[in-house]
Amino acid sequence: MRHSEYSVIVIGSGAAGLYAALKLSSKITLPDGVLIITKSSFGESNSMYAQGGIVGVMHQNTGDSIKQHVADTLKAGAGLCDKNTVEYVSELSDEVINDLINCGVDFDRDKNGNINFTLEAAHSFKRILHSGGDATGKGIVTALINKIKDDKNITVAEHSIAVELLINSGNECKGVIFYNALTGEHEVAYSSATVLATGGAGQVYKYTTNPEGATGDGIALAYRAGAIIRDMEFIQFHPTALALNPKSKNRFLISEAVRGEGAKLINKYGNEFMIKYHDKRELAPRDIVTRAIYKEMQASHSDNMFLNATIIEKNKLLSRFPTIFNRCKDNGIDICSSPIPVAPAAHYTMGGIKADINGKTSISGLYAIGETASTGLHGANRLASNSLLECVVSAYELADYLSFVNLEPPQIIDSTILAKIEKYSEPISDIDYDIETLKADLKEIMWKNVGIIRAEQQLKYAINSIDKMTDEFRKGRCISIPEYEYKNMLIVSKIIAESALNRKESRGAHSRSDYPQTEQYAEHSYISYKNKMEILEYA
Ligand code: FAD
Ligand code: SIN
Repeated sequence: MRHSEYSVIVIGSGAAGLYAALKLSSKITLPDGVLIITKSSFGESNSMYAQGGIVGVMHQNTGDSIKQHVADTLKAGAGLCDKNTVEYVSELSDEVINDLINCGVDFDRDKNGNINFTLEAAHSFKRILHSGGDATGKGIVTALINKIKDDKNITVAEHSIAVELLINSGNECKGVIFYNALTGEHEVAYSSATVLATGGAGQVYKYTTNPEGATGDGIALAYRAGAIIRDMEFIQFHPTALALNPKSKNRFLISEAVRGEGAKLINKYGNEFMIKYHDKRELAPRDIVTRAIYKEMQASHSDNMFLNATIIEKNKLLSRFPTIFNRCKDNGIDICSSPIPVAPAAHYTMGGIKADINGKTSISGLYAIGETASTGLHGANRLASNSLLECVVSAYELADYLSFVNLEPPQIIDSTILAKIEKYSEPISDIDYDIETLKADLKEIMWKNVGIIRAEQQLKYAINSIDKMTDEFRKGRCISIPEYEYKNMLIVSKIIAESALNRKESRGAHSRSDYPQTEQYAEHSYISYKNKMEILEYA
């Protein structure tokens, strides 16, 4: 096995990982450099596909205020946001977004050169910056990649999946084992600071806006390492994903910003229905719009509702939403003249590895930033466009924090770690698993039983099924990235289902048909893996 050493290891090349690597390299002297491990091609991530934009409470946007953004975020979070975190992120947004602009991110501007801010659901002010119309993520990721390409401190290992964190007997993280699909070998990378920037877990659901790689790996790795995982029952289902063919695997997102610009939800008879559900109609909080569409679909036995964007002026539609326009056009829909078929899809993982805004987790030397983390910004329901902001603020703060930490690679590797590494040389069985079918079965179970509306019987069925599927799968090391992903998906699915079963109330995105009430006091749920025992508790 190849062994190497770095000052910092960053796992993932989405907005959080890329920006963290860049900031680390520019703020700190790193004798052993930064290693980015990323399981696909460089930059392939959820971030790449982000459409609507990024929240910025900017000085030049007169009328908006941190107080108002904090109030909107807390309201959406349904009692589970950490107010200090929300305030901190909001306050830093101006500074960090200006830094992104200095890094080369081009936000859309009007003809006078002023930033164009837009509105999204449950925001009380136009405070969303966007890039390329509806290609904000691509704008951010591409600019960061261009910067990193010139940075000699940063090494990138593509098509390499992190598979096990190296935790010593003192509960300190000293690096990671990864599987390099280009060589077919496992490798060990040591570091005293390992950063999980591995994104969310939308792929555990049959219908999702997330690309293939969003399999919750970082959460599974951290869980297996004994880190505290929080609030995993809170999965955000986006209300409007393109629903062309009920059988199609991934659902392309129709950004909330289209509703922000005036599009209306209608049923197959052309009738609007959101007024029945909320006075803000299409711009009600995301969980409410999702459940409204879901209920309308069930009541009318339809596979989808429709989004009518034809009421938006044609030139505006074309310039604001070129990606959506083209994708729909490729599928035979002219959004200027026809309503778009839409249905909900799993979109965002609100819970994750418990971390503070510097990325610190419950394990020393292990950091988590971006969607994989649970910092307390989102609570039970994320406000649109707050997540890209969280990614970049956490990355920025992590780099500051690590400037005060000893980043020398570990001098002594203890026997606990050596025993872990040893296991990766053991022989394995040559059973051939049909991973695509196994993944599809799991996703179907999660969609039907741990989906938009949940109930005890279905949740228990899901847990039993996942246990059985886990028993039937390979133990120990795997032989490919998809095998590792499936293993992680089983772990994360179980955590989501257990957390959903345990929360006997409805709150934010977690909706129980058997417990429709919201308890007076909001409590977080925690889950961790210790001595082969799962501990699930509230506090
Ligand atoms: P990601 O961007 O998901 O990056 C994770 C990285 O980790 C990837 O490179 C992945 O390959 C890698 N990785 C994962 N596991 C491993 C492993 N085991 N080993 C090695 N590498 C690994 N949010 C907004 O704020 N505004 C928006 O407009 C918006 N639009 C969205 C549109 C879509 C279609 C989607 C899916 C999400 C959208 N979101 C939006 C949410 C937002 O994009 C994500 O929350 C955010 O980009 C997450 O960034 P990240 O860096 O944490 O993770
Ligand atoms: C969207 O553009 O609707 C997605 C925005 C987000 O998830 O924050």
